[in-house]
Amino acid sequence: MTSRNIQKIFAAFKKIIELHHTLCYNKVAIDSLMERCLSFLMHEAHELEFPRFKRDLTSEQMLRVIFDYTAKIANERTLDNVLILMANMGREMVVADRCSVWLIDERSQELFTTVAHGVKEIRLPLRSGLVGHAVETGEPIFIDDAYTDTVYRDVLLSGAIAVDKRTGYRTKAMMVVPFRNNDGVIIGAYQAINKMTEAEVFSGKDLEYLTLAASYSGKSIESVMLQNEIEETQREIIFTMGEIGESRSKETGNHVKRVAEYSYVLALGLGMPQEDAELLKMASPMHDIGKVAIPDSVLKKPGKLTDEEYDIMKAHTVIGYNLLKNSNRRILKTAAVVASQHHEKWNGKGYPNGLREEEIHIFGRITAIADVFDALASDRVYKKAWELDRILNLFKEERGQHFDPRVVDAFFEQLPEIVRIRDTYQDQLPEEAM
Ligand code: C2E
Ligand code: SIN
Ligand code: SIN
Ligand code: SIN
Ligand code: FE
Ligand code: FE
Repeated sequence: MTSRNIQKIFAAFKKIIELHHTLCYNKVAIDSLMERCLSFLMHEAHELEFPRFKRDLTSEQMLRVIFDYTAKIANERTLDNVLILMANMGREMVVADRCSVWLIDERSQELFTTVAHGVKEIRLPLRSGLVGHAVETGEPIFIDDAYTDTVYRDVLLSGAIAVDKRTGYRTKAMMVVPFRNNDGVIIGAYQAINKMTEAEVFSGKDLEYLTLAASYSGKSIESVMLQNEIEETQREIIFTMGEIGESRSKETGNHVKRVAEYSYVLALGLGMPQEDAELLKMASPMHDIGKVAIPDSVLKKPGKLTDEEYDIMKAHTVIGYNLLKNSNRRILKTAAVVASQHHEKWNGKGYPNGLREEEIHIFGRITAIADVFDALASDRVYKKAWELDRILNLFKEERGQHFDPRVVDAFFEQLPEIVRIRDTYQDQLPEEAM
């Protein structure tokens, strides 16, 4: 109950008391006034129990909202979830009834938004509505009442008011704030509808807050979109490069596919998080990329390598590392580690750096087993495929020597799945590959 209403009630009671003293014969007037007072009080009581209005956030509440949401948003990797969190943050910051974050889809010339988990996105033609107007001009839009506003009358009649007619909602105050990516290009807009405080209109402060949220949104959304796109592109490039590396040595493309799948199964078997296992799966196809620089005379030699030739061959790890190491991208950084370390051995007798035990990154230790298993289980230009039992015996011998004992244990635990992968991705033309 606001102090203004309390004053009204006091005034009414004062009036009653006055009436009682001076016009005590006028019972009708007093009754009527009492009635009005009572009804007014009941209304206020209802308000107290079911407040019609909310309050603007205090500074502490505002900081808490921004702090909580930005932390959540920073951890989100899917665009839908980021859009929903952004919208919720904006709604809480300016105490709006509804809030949406719209993005421009350049390809289809549409605006789209995600309103809730599991709900399909909503799409509008790019040039439509207030949002379309705001992203076109780059200026924020501020409306106190959609039904009396004259500036955006036409847009409102065909947009918000038309939607209200269908839904029964009553749009009053609106605020639209466009936002930009890191290059200053407008990529979308925040839209807040209906202010839920007693004022029922958005203030200049609200515009500031939504602009703040919008400037943060532009950056977060772009980084999530870029991240998705880059990782997709990287996946393709890496896989293709891995295939090229292997095809040079006449191993079929299925070698990289199998090594990727074995690595993934082993990583999960070791209890690593799904995200890490997926990262390794994307990076491990690159392990032999350095072979692109090894001369055919060595790479395709049908027989055993001389010591000198083997030294040349070993350089594929360092070459691969140097090809990949300068990237800042997560997948390529990981691929660089795997390229560099997949021939290191648990006992320190591997190459190129003679690392031992946990000096070797877990991704290197996993790829080592995946790679050797696949090399042994396949025909190579220099050798025939081994029987499974012979490979398993070697792995038992090499447990704690060539290979991390924990990874060998995971290999044996996952053996049915490993064999299933081997059989699913068989090399199609073994006689040609030879
Ligand atoms: P790769 O063919 O992909 O083999 C990967 C790894 O599997 C080898 O690493 C080795 O640890 C294991 N491996 C493959 N075949 C055998 C085998 O018959 N017996 C045993 N015990 N292990 C085997 P490594 O030795 O560092 O070789 C790296 C790469 O050098 C090989 O990749 C392959 O491209 C090449 N290479 C190795 N030895 C020869 C060879 O005698 N002739 C030719 N032409 N290339 C060789
Ligand atoms: C508009 O910007 O007017 C379209 C979005 C809506 O109000 O639902
Ligand atoms: C793991 O997460 O299981 C790998 C930890 C390690 O051995 O480095
Ligand atoms: C090597 O050590 O030369 C490669 C493995 C093999 O062919 O035995
Ligand atoms: Fe290799
Ligand atoms: Fe390989």
